[in-house]
Amino acid sequence: MLSSKDRVIMIAGASGGIGSAIAQCLHDKGYSVSLGARNLEKLGAWTQTSDAERIMTHAYEATDASNNADWVNATVERFGRIDGVVNSAGMGGMVNLEDDDDETYDALWAVNVKGPMRMIRLTLPHLRKCGSGRIINVSSLSGKRVTNDGTGYALSKFALMAVTHATRRAGWEDGVRATSICPSWVNTDMAARAEGITREDMIQPEDLAEMAATVIALPNSAAIAELLVNCTLGDMF
Ligand SMILES: NC(=O)c1ccc[n+]([C@@H]2O[C@H](COP(=O)([O-])OP(=O)(O)OC[C@H]3O[C@@H](n4cnc5c(N)ncnc54)[C@H](OP(=O)(O)O)[C@@H]3O)[C@@H](O)[C@H]2O)c1
Repeated sequence: MLSSKDRVIMIAGASGGIGSAIAQCLHDKGYSVSLGARNLEKLGAWTQTSDAERIMTHAYEATDASNNADWVNATVERFGRIDGVVNSAGMGGMVNLEDDDDETYDALWAVNVKGPMRMIRLTLPHLRKCGSGRIINVSSLSGKRVTNDGTGYALSKFALMAVTHATRRAGWEDGVRATSICPSWVNTDMAARAEGITREDMIQPEDLAEMAATVIALPNSAAIAELLVNCTLGDMF
């Protein structure tokens, strides 16, 4: 497998707490990174570093198919290859089984499932070509078990688990390995509504970033399909 300095990783949702930490960690380890965010001004100051030749930024809107294709094409034009994609963009949205709220269910489906699935479809030809392509979908422990009324979110994350396993099957022969990272509470904006746990006791985004970097660096013969990460003794599945 190539060393990190020859590999190019796209990060969708690089303005968010987890996406930003993964992007920064991969860049620190020598990867070239293509950062997708719907608001480029929210990308951290680190993206202006002296090593900026290994960083590109591009608008990313999960629900906009032509924008997604433009980003993939721009990444190939800039770096000549794509070795991995991290799908970290995602939305919360409290909607439960008995809520008559198709709008929120549709939004969750569009952002948390169809967005990552489209990024995978668009990049698979490039990932196959490099022989050791990597996909990381940031799912959730809510994609493994249902412990609260956030049914819509859980449905979307369970579906994202299926996307990961479908990707494993589709890409395996060509060296593509897909992983779902499934955390419980992570100390980011999305966890602002969390009750009964302090920020310090949550999983820190930097720790998830190290896990993502390990998954990307592992050889094709050591594939991790699901990485379940908890900060409490709560149910894992
Ligand atoms: N925090 C947790 O406790 C937790 C636990 C389990 C799983 N997760 C998952 O982790 C992932 C990252 O979340 P986070 O914790 O880092 O939260 P965050 O800081 O709120 O980041 C969410 C990211 O998703 C982006 N996003 C939302 N809707 C989008 C859209 N329509 N198009 C493009 N980008 C969009 C946001 O963009 P803006 O910056 O423009 O808003 C932001 O970059 C999500 O998939 C989430 O479901 C989080």
